[in-house]
Amino acid sequence: MSVNKEVKRITTHTVQEMKNRGEKIAMLTAYDYSMATIVDDAGMDIILVGDSASNVMAGHETTLPITLDQMIYHASSVVRAAKRALVIVDLPFGSYQGNSKEALNSAIRIMKESGAHGVKMEGGVEIAESVSRILTAGIPVMGHLGLTPQSIYKFGTYTVRAKQEAEAQKLREDTLALQELGCFAIVVEKIPAMLAKEVTESVQIPIIGIGAGRHCDGQVLVIHDMLGINKGFKPRFLRQYANLYDQMNGAIKNYIGDIKSKDFPNEQEQY
Ligand code: KIV
Repeated sequence: MSVNKEVKRITTHTVQEMKNRGEKIAMLTAYDYSMATIVDDAGMDIILVGDSASNVMAGHETTLPITLDQMIYHASSVVRAAKRALVIVDLPFGSYQGNSKEALNSAIRIMKESGAHGVKMEGGVEIAESVSRILTAGIPVMGHLGLTPQSIYKFGTYTVRAKQEAEAQKLREDTLALQELGCFAIVVEKIPAMLAKEVTESVQIPIIGIGAGRHCDGQVLVIHDMLGINKGFKPRFLRQYANLYDQMNGAIKNYIGDIKSKDFPNEQEQY
């Protein structure tokens, strides 16, 4: 008799409970079915279909070019794989900044066409109307503050944000505002660890850090970075858990070598 072990889905309520009891939240990006299957099977709490797909999947220099249709394609592939994880999808640049009606339409398209469980949006009080309208439709929203890559041309660099008091103060206010609006969690990217600790302790909702130190309620990384698929990308905050670039490159070289030397396929590998 086969025992069908039921997998309990992580929800926005689950991650809130995790913060309440002091259990750290694990989040990682994925953009396709095969990777998302591995990530979900490993027991990830949240899978982020990040607009970093623009960089790591499509090879663009920034996250700006990726479209809503492309995000929906990635998200639906991930949703088909994720049996346990909460799947959150980035609203891409240009799909929500214009006006709140457009923002709502974009979020609805993601939810309807991909089957994801919520959206992530970059920005604070400037996007309050859009966040609020999406939340009113019953769609969970995760905020994103600090280094917000969709604004890279405003920042000019990918260095640590909110080191100056004025920017730190805005981040504190934005964190409170996003909580007040009803966001279920907030990503803080590349900010000083002590500021991240302060905002984590100042709100009830989970704060997920990337390059924001150990005091956040959870951590997120881009899967290509932590698996060492991106050759040469080693910022200080990144812990690399594998060196897949070299391993994959080596395996592929062996395959080429075996074809050239007529070793592959051998008699056992044919019909
Ligand atoms: O797009 C992304 O991968 C992200 C994470 C870096 C948080 O937003």
